[in-house]
Amino acid sequence: MPIVTFLPANKRVEIDSGEDLLQAAAKANIHVNASCGGEGTCGKCKVLVSGNRVDSDSAGRLSETEIAKGYVLACKTQVFKDLTIKIPVESELLAKRRTKIKTLTSSLDSWNEQLAAFKVDPPLTKRYFELVEPSLSDAVSDLTRINRALKREFRVSDVKIDLDIVKKLPDILRDGKWRITVLALVEKDHVRIMRVEPGNTVKKQYALGCDIGTTTCSAQIIDLESKRILAEVSEYNAQANYGDDVISRIVYAKKDKGLHLLQTKVAQTIERMIKSLLEQTQVEAKDIGFAVMAGNTIMTHLALGVSTEQIREAPYTPVFRVAPMVSGLDIGLKSLKDAPIFFYPSVASYLGGDITAGVAAVDMLDSEKLTLYIDIGTNGEIVLGNNEWLLGCSCSAGPAFEGAGVKDGIRSIDGAIERVVIEPDTFETVFATIGGHLPIGICGSGLIDLLAELFKSGAVDKRGKFHRDLDTARIREGEYGWEFVVSWAKMTGLEHDIVITEVDIDNLMRAKAAVFAGITTLVESVGVTLDDVQEILIAGSFGNYIKVAEAITIGLLPDLPVERYRFVGNGSLLGAAKAAVSKGVLDRAAEVTRSMNYLELSAEPGFMDKYVSALFLPHTDKRLFPSVHGG
Ligand code: FES
Repeated sequence: MPIVTFLPANKRVEIDSGEDLLQAAAKANIHVNASCGGEGTCGKCKVLVSGNRVDSDSAGRLSETEIAKGYVLACKTQVFKDLTIKIPVESELLAKRRTKIKTLTSSLDSWNEQLAAFKVDPPLTKRYFELVEPSLSDAVSDLTRINRALKREFRVSDVKIDLDIVKKLPDILRDGKWRITVLALVEKDHVRIMRVEPGNTVKKQYALGCDIGTTTCSAQIIDLESKRILAEVSEYNAQANYGDDVISRIVYAKKDKGLHLLQTKVAQTIERMIKSLLEQTQVEAKDIGFAVMAGNTIMTHLALGVSTEQIREAPYTPVFRVAPMVSGLDIGLKSLKDAPIFFYPSVASYLGGDITAGVAAVDMLDSEKLTLYIDIGTNGEIVLGNNEWLLGCSCSAGPAFEGAGVKDGIRSIDGAIERVVIEPDTFETVFATIGGHLPIGICGSGLIDLLAELFKSGAVDKRGKFHRDLDTARIREGEYGWEFVVSWAKMTGLEHDIVITEVDIDNLMRAKAAVFAGITTLVESVGVTLDDVQEILIAGSFGNYIKVAEAITIGLLPDLPVERYRFVGNGSLLGAAKAAVSKGVLDRAAEVTRSMNYLELSAEPGFMDKYVSALFLPHTDKRLFPSVHGG
């Protein structure tokens, strides 16, 4: 079997003859950019073969010079003999950035206030029992003794329990001297015993809330006693190494062992976040009673190891909309091995549990106001409605606003440029980075600012093309075409300038056009106008940080009074946290999935025209953006 050695990490891995270099890298745990999931279309998985030449189907995506130097596409290069591969520096840097866990605290106070208003009624509840010790006059079995107490406590006629818990009962009951705490799942007519612990542990009731995002995952530990989120972390979804968007993941999952690998990667991401949360809070893993997770339909399927193949083919059906309750071990989470995991249900293949979680969390079902809920993540998901009806759609915005598909784009980590101002006379830049660190890239909010500033300063025209004749060294022709230098290398934490290229701008324009066309199609499909929308809720991992005015300037958001906009942050995670405290929120989500209609944008006759019209800054129809045009 051939051995592949990856430099500079010097990792060696043995693979099956005929496997490709992308599979070899996955086995070696080496990050290779694979935005298209191995389809051979993105050209990002280029690696350098040292020594002997190998046959590779890399033409078309790599330049002749690159091929002459020995570069190949990892996904298009099968391996039949020992090889040494050099990973480009960009891939290494990205890998480092992607594995960094970020601790977030910004929204916790406001979220804790929201949780404080809830009556604690979690999906699983802990109760303490002091059982009567057996005697000759009361010699019923251990299980009957517990059942008796639970039936009385919960007023149910039936108690269910699994064999593996029954096996542990004799020791737990006697170790605890007949004082025990039961973690129970209370259904309508029965109670299921999920765990039995010796002594009184009701004060140790914690839950995990988790948002499984296509690009970024976030998690929180919630103390159910105090109704407080104790800590929150987020991390790049390690699946992102195998495709930037959901379609690329579906493509990768179809490969041999691809589904298993993607499930393993997301489980590892969640495990790392749990470890970090436990360290920060000193909570013990055994005291996390259950978890609530929310993700889009594809992420939910992959987290459960369920095939996503059919989601990509007409009529685009998922395997399930309501996921079964599973245990941590079922999905590869060793630290939560016997904790039940609840997933938010989906509405459709491209309108998932992340949206039902968000919509349930912001109480759209109870509001009379005509509300637009917009979640800008790797996909743009939009819901319109109120307490009478809900209509949702999904537009493939792509991950540009999460920093992917943009040369120097990164997510919101320390050193990310989050604010930019461009002096209109000199085109000099003033920027702010997260944490005040030296800049290492530009995150979503920075990209929106930057595009708006480039447009306002006249550096780019309405097509997003640079004016080539301006008197500034910042606009130049670079390795990847025309670009604008946001920060010179000497001001960065890198060895190169931080730039935005015309190709990056193209990606951002396509993303913003998809979102805006989705919004207008949805609104018009129910016979209302944008003006009729009373409240616009912006969700998504970077939602809190974007400036509405700048988002309007580039034509991402409708030109409506800023007072109508409200940021909800990561709605999916908020939904997970709220459902952990009150199972009523999960019930509301089930109602959302029943009552929401799904609009398939690709089948809407006007959508494509709207999309094309929105591929300009801010739009071809100036009347839609009066504030940008001085109206
Ligand atoms: Fe190889 Fe996209 S071209 S992963």
